[in-house]
Amino acid sequence: MKDIYCLSIESSCDETSMSIVKNGNTDIATVVFTQIDIHKKFGGVVPEIASRSHIESITIVLDELLEKAKMDMNDIDIIGVTYGPGLIGSLLIGVECAKTIALVTGKPLIPVHHIAGHIYANNLKERLSFPLIALVVSGGHTDLVYMKEDYSFQRIGSTLDDAVGEAYDKVAKILGLDYPGGPIIDKKATLGKDTYNLPYPLDDASFNFSFSGIKSAVVNLVHNEHQRGNDIRIDDMCTSFQKRVVAILTKKTKNALQEYNVKNLIVAGGVAANQGLRKSLEEMAKENDIHLSYPEIKYCTDNATMIGAAAYYAYQKGVRGDLTLNAKATDTLYQVFLNKNTDQD
Ligand code: KG4
Ligand code: ZN
Repeated sequence: MKDIYCLSIESSCDETSMSIVKNGNTDIATVVFTQIDIHKKFGGVVPEIASRSHIESITIVLDELLEKAKMDMNDIDIIGVTYGPGLIGSLLIGVECAKTIALVTGKPLIPVHHIAGHIYANNLKERLSFPLIALVVSGGHTDLVYMKEDYSFQRIGSTLDDAVGEAYDKVAKILGLDYPGGPIIDKKATLGKDTYNLPYPLDDASFNFSFSGIKSAVVNLVHNEHQRGNDIRIDDMCTSFQKRVVAILTKKTKNALQEYNVKNLIVAGGVAANQGLRKSLEEMAKENDIHLSYPEIKYCTDNATMIGAAAYYAYQKGVRGDLTLNAKATDTLYQVFLNKNTDQD
């Protein structure tokens, strides 16, 4: 079969990224321009600044990518782009760029759901084995997804309020730590002791999650201690917080694997980089004879390589976009892909 080279674009949040991916599994070249330093001083992503930054950098990123890959547009077969969910102003820059390239070159345009990208980041490491359960843990999502086969997504559980990455970032902010807080809490969690009596997040029989309770518990505790003139033991707080979050993520994932009688588990999204979560899932997988895989650290947070990997399988399924393709800020059901449309309503 002829090799398929995908030029992919990801601009849903604060990374302007483009990649060339071969056959959905090989990273030929990737450029990620991260805006983290720009947003750091505001303690989080400022949407207006993010979209302006995407505009400034997107053509530079494209030039740099083609130079790095030593390729030109004639070498490209398909154009993959994140159409949503994410920040609307940021998504629009990537979508318009992809549509323009598709129009000028006449190559197929493949709209990709951002989370499908995170899931397919795993395919860059080893071929996905089906059926599988994907634990999706990012700044915007906490989902359990059942996949019977390639590019078939059934969400079986989701967060009822904050996403897990969002909870990490908010807790870090309360503790006076930098943005993004997830990796910092992860590091500090290895240094402290579990001394704070925080509640476990939604410990029930469902596959849903809730992180607002534990986040509020940290906020209240910090305020009360400050009012009493006491300092917070930051490392201990990180340990206590991470321990409970990881315990619930692991428990619900294990239940989902059992209920769906699935032996393959993948982890997707920025929080898949979390060392505490990896360790806990590894132990659970070993005990239950589960094949566990997570992406390389550089493919856990937002990047266009994962979008190129997903676009290949979307292309095989017949997913196509045209010049009416629009960015979509709010989440869409994963099932839209099975309908071979891009859910533009
Ligand atoms: O997937 P991602 O890059 O963007 C979204 O699609 O949301 O995820 C970003 C999130 C941030 O909330 C960040 O704090 C979190 O992933 N994150 C981590 C770690 N590395 C990134 N959270 C916990 N531990 C980490 N090591
Ligand atoms: Zn993401």
